[in-house]
Amino acid sequence: MNPLIIANWKMNKSVSESLSFVNQIIDPLSKINSVKPVICPPFTSLSELSKVISGTNIELGAQNVYFEVDGAYTGEISISMIKELCSYVIVGHSERRTYFKENDLAINMKLQSVINNGLNPILCVGESIESRTKGTADQVIGQQLTKGLENITSLDRLIIAYEPIWAIGTGQSASSEIAQEMSLTIRNKINDLHGIISKKIPILYGGSVKSENIKDFVAQNDINGALVGSASLDPKSFVSLVSESQI
Ligand code: PGA
Repeated sequence: MNPLIIANWKMNKSVSESLSFVNQIIDPLSKINSVKPVICPPFTSLSELSKVISGTNIELGAQNVYFEVDGAYTGEISISMIKELCSYVIVGHSERRTYFKENDLAINMKLQSVINNGLNPILCVGESIESRTKGTADQVIGQQLTKGLENITSLDRLIIAYEPIWAIGTGQSASSEIAQEMSLTIRNKINDLHGIISKKIPILYGGSVKSENIKDFVAQNDINGALVGSASLDPKSFVSLVSESQI
């Protein structure tokens, strides 16, 4: 499986800043065929970027989506609005779980909507520092997967990102050993819930990934790429992340 390197820009970059970034990476990334780069800009940049990346090896994703099809939901964005602009959607990022109180039920409904509409969801799971210290990380992730994947019949498009909360934006990434161990735990849990398809699901690591440490993560048996926040905001840094991920 070719590594997937997914940029999560969070609440950063105007439309013109997004265009300037992408115009700088198209050429260098066109020479790298064995890695799949995906950019998740803010909603406001999706439309313009979708025109610029057309015909390149770069794909686009949204950082969130609402599960209702349409209607009176002021400020929300539905799947039909993003469907023609991108092919990936991040679901259940820990910042959304924390700041916007997204629970496993809402995350499950979003996943169903993304899958039913033929897009690829990136489901984020990860434990807090308290649960790591208490030794309950496996249970927390088991619960997030059990509830998140409830009643989901097709896992063909599913991507999982293991993102320990204590490693996000802290500069303190998980060790590649912990990331591998947790990715295997995730794969085994999906095997318990859904069977053999678990072997085909890309599992990414996220949390303070940079070009200096990405090789250690993608070299692990059960890690198939990375979800990257701050190190994805600079075009040179993103190109070197993708370049370093070639295996
Ligand atoms: P970070 O963010 O790379 O800045 O730690 C990762 C994420 O939140 O997806």
